[in-house]
Amino acid sequence: MATRQVRVDTTERPRTSDVERDFEFTSADFARIRELIHRRAGISLSDHKRDMAYSRLARRLRACGIDTFRHYLDRLEASGDSAEWEAFVNALTTNLTAFFRESHHFPILADFAKRRQQPVSVWCSAASTGEEPYSIAMTLIEALGEHAARQCTVLSTDIDSQVLAKADAGVYSLDQVKPLSTERLKRFFLKGTGVHEGLVKVRPEVRALVKFERLNLTDSNYNLKTPFDAIFCRNVMIYFDKPTQAQVLSRFEPLMKPGALLFAGHSENFTYVTQAFRLRGQTVYELARDAKAGAHSKHARVLAGEVA
Ligand SMILES: C[S@@+](CC[C@H](N)C(=O)[O-])C[C@H]1O[C@@H](n2cnc3c(N)ncnc32)[C@H](O)[C@@H]1O
Repeated sequence: MATRQVRVDTTERPRTSDVERDFEFTSADFARIRELIHRRAGISLSDHKRDMAYSRLARRLRACGIDTFRHYLDRLEASGDSAEWEAFVNALTTNLTAFFRESHHFPILADFAKRRQQPVSVWCSAASTGEEPYSIAMTLIEALGEHAARQCTVLSTDIDSQVLAKADAGVYSLDQVKPLSTERLKRFFLKGTGVHEGLVKVRPEVRALVKFERLNLTDSNYNLKTPFDAIFCRNVMIYFDKPTQAQVLSRFEPLMKPGALLFAGHSENFTYVTQAFRLRGQTVYELARDAKAGAHSKHARVLAGEVA
């Protein structure tokens, strides 16, 4: 691509990266992007995400053949073009994940699933490229056996359509599965050969438990009919401000069966946001109303999987 003359925002000192930029990128552009992504996805972009926003959205400008951020954002807002809005959101999400990330949660889930006297339904609400929901499915198979696990469901949602497509394919590089034990690798993955050398694919029996759908956690209605035994909402609330976190948690509450668990990311603390949840330990939450009932009723404790 030909190098363009770079104009920098005259209201501020040029940043090192400005001199390498193809497109003018002003503070007003960044402020507008922040406002739009917050409105659309609840994501709060901090100042230090400015370069990230530039480089990810510069690709959209190139793809659309537009040469200023202002025109791109004008067109985005005016058009209501849902495909471009989707691309805009996809560009600004952060999708870092891994198999059995925050590994302490999986034995807790295994134990919970064994004690629960019914097939468990799990909602993985920020599933990214699929490593998390597949880890949940593998845990259920290990805990309950293949036959009983087949009755379980792992609904896996994310706002980002691109990561969901990758998750749906269930194909990963050998590097991505390197931390898994040989036993898990053999049991849950097919090894690619020929042109697929260096890749693995999640086995159909794991894949069968997992269903992928696009869902925006900041939507006012999730359209989810049945409540869940466990919700995984890990490492997504960190991108939301406190009022957005409170809204999301208030929508989770009616979607949790009695005794259900909510799994959070390592740096997410929901007790500062709402009194509806109580920390059980290790970033796992339960509904406060269950905790109260649990103190009085053996039935509720059985439902919560606390009494064998
Ligand atoms: C850092 S990843 C975390 C993935 C996984 N939960 C984990 O802990 O490994 C955050 C995910 O949240 C998704 N996300 C961001 N905003 C969202 C929203 N409003 N609704 C649903 N998902 C969202 C992103 O697309 C991204 O895939």
